[in-house]
Amino acid sequence: MEKGTLDRRIFTDADIYQEELEKVFGLAWLMVSHESLIPNPNDFFLSYMGEDPVIVTRDSKGEVHVFLNMCRHRGNRVVRADDGNAKNFMCTYHGWTFSNEGKLVSVPGLQEAYYGELDVENLGLVEARVDIYAGIIFACWADDAPTLEAYLGDARYYLDTSFNRRDGGQQAYGPQKWTEPVNWKTPVDNCSDNYHLPVTHLATSLAMGQFGRRSQTAFSTHKALFGSTSKHLHVNGHGLTLRIYEEGQQVQPRFGNGRTPKNNHVFQQFYESIQPELERRLGKFRANRFSLANHTLFPNGVLGFRLALPRGPLKTEFWHFVLVDKDAPDEVRRATIVGYGNNNGITGLMEQDDQDNWIQMTQSGLSPKGRKIPSNLSMGKGRWTNTDPRFPGIVSDGYISENNQRNFYSRWQEFMNAGSWKDIPVAPITANFEGTASMRS
Ligand code: FES
Ligand SMILES: [Fe+2]
Repeated sequence: MEKGTLDRRIFTDADIYQEELEKVFGLAWLMVSHESLIPNPNDFFLSYMGEDPVIVTRDSKGEVHVFLNMCRHRGNRVVRADDGNAKNFMCTYHGWTFSNEGKLVSVPGLQEAYYGELDVENLGLVEARVDIYAGIIFACWADDAPTLEAYLGDARYYLDTSFNRRDGGQQAYGPQKWTEPVNWKTPVDNCSDNYHLPVTHLATSLAMGQFGRRSQTAFSTHKALFGSTSKHLHVNGHGLTLRIYEEGQQVQPRFGNGRTPKNNHVFQQFYESIQPELERRLGKFRANRFSLANHTLFPNGVLGFRLALPRGPLKTEFWHFVLVDKDAPDEVRRATIVGYGNNNGITGLMEQDDQDNWIQMTQSGLSPKGRKIPSNLSMGKGRWTNTDPRFPGIVSDGYISENNQRNFYSRWQEFMNAGSWKDIPVAPITANFEGTASMRS
C-alpha cells in the first residue's frame, strides 16, 4: 500500500481466503441483525459471522444473544428456519435441545444411555460477544476485542446522522439475498469510492432523471465531482463519504431514496417535522451541515445495514436491508423501501452497474498474465491535511481520492498480520458528540 499498488491474489487465493475468515472475521465486530427484526421475547433470526452460521435470539428476559448454529453433539445445524419465535431449539438429528439462552436443557437418554455422566453444563451453544449500536446488533468472537464503541470510534460521529437520528429508532426491512461471483472485498472497497459515479452510473443517473426519480445529477459529471466541497474520510477501517451543506441549505438525508417530484412534499413535511428532534439528538452542526453518503463498515458492511458475506474467494452473498424511521409516514416508508431496491436491491440499477465491474475485476485476478500485474490505487496518496476539528478521522483533501481504499486494505493487512487484538491499533475517540444520541438510544 506504500506504493499505492495491490497484489490481485488477495482476491482469488484460497489460502488467503481461509486465513481472512480466521483473522478478519474471527476478530472483528460484525453486523448480524437489527433489534427490530427480533422485537419480542423469544424471537430469533438466523444470520452469519463470515461463513459461520449464527442464531440471533432475544431470550424471555429481553436479552440479545448470538450463538453458533451448531449442535454440540455431532454438529448438526440446530435451527433451520430463517426467523421465528421459540423458547427452545431441538436438534433434528438426535434431539438435543438448547434454550434461547444457549443452555443444553434436554438430552434423550441422559440417564439411560449417558449414565448421567454427560457434561451438560459445558455443552451449551457456543456464544459470541454481543453489542448494539442504534438498534444494529453486532457480534464478535474475540474476547480481547475492544468495545463496539471503541471499534466504531469516531466513525459513529458520522453514522449517527443516518442510523441514530430518532428517539423511536428505525425498522429494518429485508433482507433480499443474492450471490455474486466476486470477492467480498471488492464491493466493500467500492462502497466508499465516489470516483466511479459519473462513469459507471451515468446511464442510470440519466434514466432516473428521465423517470422523475431523484437522480444523482449532483455527481453525474467529473466537473461536479472534482469541484465538490464534500468530504471523504477514514476511521479504524471504516470508509465514509459525506455531503456537506452551506448554512441554511436543506440537508438531503441518506434515506431520501425513493423521493420523486410527486411525493416530494410528503418527504419534505416529514423532514421538517423531525428537524427539532434531530438538532436535540445530534447537535446543530451534525443535524444541519452534513449528511452521510456512500460508506462502509469494516470489514463487510456496505451502504448502511447491508452485508457482503464471504462465500469462498470468488463468491459473495449479499444481504440487502432497508432501515426506515419507525414513525415515518406510510408513503415515505413505501417509497424508501422501493427506492432503495431500485438503486441497490437485487434488481437495482446501481447494483447491476457495479456488479458488472466487480465481476470483470475478479476475472482479472484469475487470468495468468493479469494476476501478475498489481492493481493501482495511488490517487491522492498522502493528501490528507484536515484542519477542521469538527470533522474527526483521516480526512482527505478534496472529495475524490483512493485514500479510503488504501486505508481499507491497510486495515485488512493489520488484521492479517496480527492474529489477536493486542497487535491491532484502535484510534482514540476524539469527536465532540453534541446532542443526546448515545450508543444505545
Ligand atoms: S447432532 Fe444434534 S443431537 Fe446429535
Ligand atoms: Fe456504484
